[in-house]
Amino acid sequence: MGFEISLQEELERKPFPEALSQAADLAIGQVLHGLGGLDGTVADAMRYAVVGGKGLRAFLAIESARLHGIAGAQAAPAAGAIEALHGYSLVHDDMPCMDDDAVRRGQPTVHAKWNEAIAVLAGDALQSLAFELVARTGCSDAARLALVSGLAHAAGVRGMVGGQAMDIAAETAASPLDLAQITELQGSKTGALIGWAATVGPIMAGDDPAPLRRYAQNLGLAFQIADDILDIEGDAATVGKALGKDADAGKATFVSLLGLEPAKQQAHELIRAACDALDVYGADADTLRDAARFVIARKS
Ligand code: IPE
Ligand code: IPE
Ligand code: MG
Ligand code: MG
Ligand code: MG
Repeated sequence: MGFEISLQEELERKPFPEALSQAADLAIGQVLHGLGGLDGTVADAMRYAVVGGKGLRAFLAIESARLHGIAGAQAAPAAGAIEALHGYSLVHDDMPCMDDDAVRRGQPTVHAKWNEAIAVLAGDALQSLAFELVARTGCSDAARLALVSGLAHAAGVRGMVGGQAMDIAAETAASPLDLAQITELQGSKTGALIGWAATVGPIMAGDDPAPLRRYAQNLGLAFQIADDILDIEGDAATVGKALGKDADAGKATFVSLLGLEPAKQQAHELIRAACDALDVYGADADTLRDAARFVIARKS
């Protein structure tokens, strides 16, 4: 009985800022536990690369689980997995052969603090750790298998890596990318991991992931538009990374194609569509709606 009451309490909706910080803490705890106090430079760099982020992807995993009646403790390994995988993507994204950035989350990037070999290896090992963690998610074997293969798909050449490849190729493309190409690029490099995170709950529960998939498709594009706007209008100290780099690098973004104001308009429309996708969940999805609004209002 006591257990039932505490589970019920845990499944109550929380305000977005509280839910975000709790999910981020849960995810980091999983990664640290996964590393088990391991000594050595690569393990140190891995820990360094998963702290200090907003934890949005962890939040999406935990919140989607809550919406499907699943407690945070069961979904925590999936939240740890997606933050480890996201951390890996950032470590490699910052390397000289990609975006060549020296600052991330207000701190030196991994290759700047250590060296490029450590950055490659820490990124690789964070990806492996992500799969170790996701395999510990508290759900049926069938659901766990779907999470593992879904994460592999989202991370790989049809997902984040494929999008990153398009992003780099676009820098030297003979002609600018069109709207459909930029949508595909951004949906892959950013949307794929966000899409996986937001469908953790229905996949764990064996429920229909379609509404949350649609929410995440819109959210992922809006998230990257907001990132691209911050590159132009943000405050570097608040954002915690070097800004004003995308245009010089020749990045293909909604902002480079449409201009700043139409891109902002587009982001608002995407957030409206994301919120509309949550209708089936009623008011219980208000925290996810607040998250969507946060994505385009954020300053970092
Ligand atoms: C940055 O993601 C990379 C993009 C996909 C634009 P976040 O803005 O979520 O990074 P952290 O984890 O909060 O630092
Ligand atoms: C990165 O996009 C997306 C990833 C898959 C890592 P950006 O290159 O725009 O991200 P930031 O601005 O460096 O965080
Ligand atoms: Mg990049
Ligand atoms: Mg970058
Ligand atoms: Mg950026």
